[in-house]
Amino acid sequence: MILSKWIGRSRFRELALLLLSGSAFACAALAADEHQFQTFPGYTDVEYDQPYRPKFHFTSLKHWINDPNGLLYYEGEYHLFFQHNPLGQGWGNMTWGHAVSTDMVHWKQLPHAILPYGHGYPFSGSGVVDHNNSLGKQVSDTKTLVLMYSYALDKREHFGVLARPTETSYYQGIAYSTDKGRTFQLLNDGGPVIPNQGREVDPLGTERDPKLFWHEATRKWVAVLWMGETSKGHIRFFTSEDLQHWTVASELVRPWAHECVNLVELPILNEAGKPLGRKKWLLHDGGFHYEVGSFDGKEFKSEQPMKSDKLGDWNAAQTFNNSPDGRTVIIGWLPRAAFFRRKMPFSEQLSFPATLELRQSGARVELYRWPIREIESLYAGAWALPKNIGAGESNTRLADIRVECADLSVEFEPKGQKDIVFDLRGSLLTYSPANKSLHFISSENVAKKKAVAGKSPQELKKLRVDEYTIPNVLKNGVVKFRILIDRGSMELFINEGEVVLTHSVISELDNKSITITGGDAVIKSLEVHELKSSWNSEKRNK
Ligand code: FRU
Repeated sequence: MILSKWIGRSRFRELALLLLSGSAFACAALAADEHQFQTFPGYTDVEYDQPYRPKFHFTSLKHWINDPNGLLYYEGEYHLFFQHNPLGQGWGNMTWGHAVSTDMVHWKQLPHAILPYGHGYPFSGSGVVDHNNSLGKQVSDTKTLVLMYSYALDKREHFGVLARPTETSYYQGIAYSTDKGRTFQLLNDGGPVIPNQGREVDPLGTERDPKLFWHEATRKWVAVLWMGETSKGHIRFFTSEDLQHWTVASELVRPWAHECVNLVELPILNEAGKPLGRKKWLLHDGGFHYEVGSFDGKEFKSEQPMKSDKLGDWNAAQTFNNSPDGRTVIIGWLPRAAFFRRKMPFSEQLSFPATLELRQSGARVELYRWPIREIESLYAGAWALPKNIGAGESNTRLADIRVECADLSVEFEPKGQKDIVFDLRGSLLTYSPANKSLHFISSENVAKKKAVAGKSPQELKKLRVDEYTIPNVLKNGVVKFRILIDRGSMELFINEGEVVLTHSVISELDNKSITITGGDAVIKSLEVHELKSSWNSEKRNK
């Protein structure tokens, strides 16, 4: 089915469920009226106090979100824009929602920044600070914030409530703000700055998700564009001096490339995380296939084969432009938590911000992710086990711990041949000495697995049990992991972020325990920080 192909199987499944549950967005084909999409003033009837509202993962006050968009920092504020359906709980009516934060942990949602217009919708894109006033729109000393989005005119299936266009076509447009992101104007009435590149590249013309950034060495703006569904793998690089006129600089074909391509320069660290004084460019797509190489302002040259960094629910991630402190922080869409089944007023969430690093490891450089240190502002109660005690004794001491949301770090030295199981509110993380692997299955999938026992392979496929095995996690005789547990997700960082598994899971409300059972191990250290809510008093962030 075309729709499921376009929006991805998981999102399609949720949408189908929403339609069945009768809570999906209205389907009537209406004429374009942007006022119908500025629904934010009407979000006053909800707070942040629902029992399944994630405490420290971003959600919109109301309604559907998917990709993070336009991540940028300017004058003390991080701006997070996101694909947002302002009218309902399923994908559609794409608008750029908006939130700001001083620390990437506590967010305040603002009115939607870019609304649908004409027959089309603003799809994903990125944002920059126009330091040199290239666009010529600056007012006073305040720099202009510039967002580049894909304008999606698509007559296939259902995109939202606007009357369908007669043609399917995408182009790249710009919206800008001269008041620190409080209001946005469409450049040239929302017309193209990068026109559709022609059907010879992608017969459907679906080119989208521009990554925009300033390339200091050539003193030019660069836009990187993924070019379509049917011509899988086309990426085109453009340059510009004024953000309005764009020239094709080069083209790359990578069969792995699909949606939301990002290009960012990162310092290379050694295995212990110390800078080596060199930098490389990271090119990745929305499904987090990546290559590392050089970029001269026009052309990307790969220096090592593609690798995939996607484990679990992790999509369409992008990095902040104009970061104030040299860190590269990434946020992705963390899809598939079934909040709608719990009758929440919002659906979908974003991953917790993490620093992105490249570390030299033999001949390759590897990608590392690690939660930003600002998470510590949410630390409430803390527990630590005495160092170097056995698994059995650790389990006895954990008996009193009850946590709903936590930042848990463990380092252990496996002993013997029996599997050791960390039960985290019903989700199971199992270390298997036989192949030195960690296996993760969420509590929801544990339940599913029980329910499907004995079913035919076809039924099993339909019911899809998600579980993950990460091999060879034993390093210098120990295994280290850190896990962020929220009401709608678990984010697992193994060996300092060398492997990351991001998983949507809604744990049962009454299960707040952590246990260690099975085999032997020396638990060298185990620390739990209970996390409080990032939403002020769980009420609206006024
Ligand atoms: C990725 C994506 C983008 C597109 C957006 C639409 O999840 O499909 O390619 O711009 O979502 O919401």
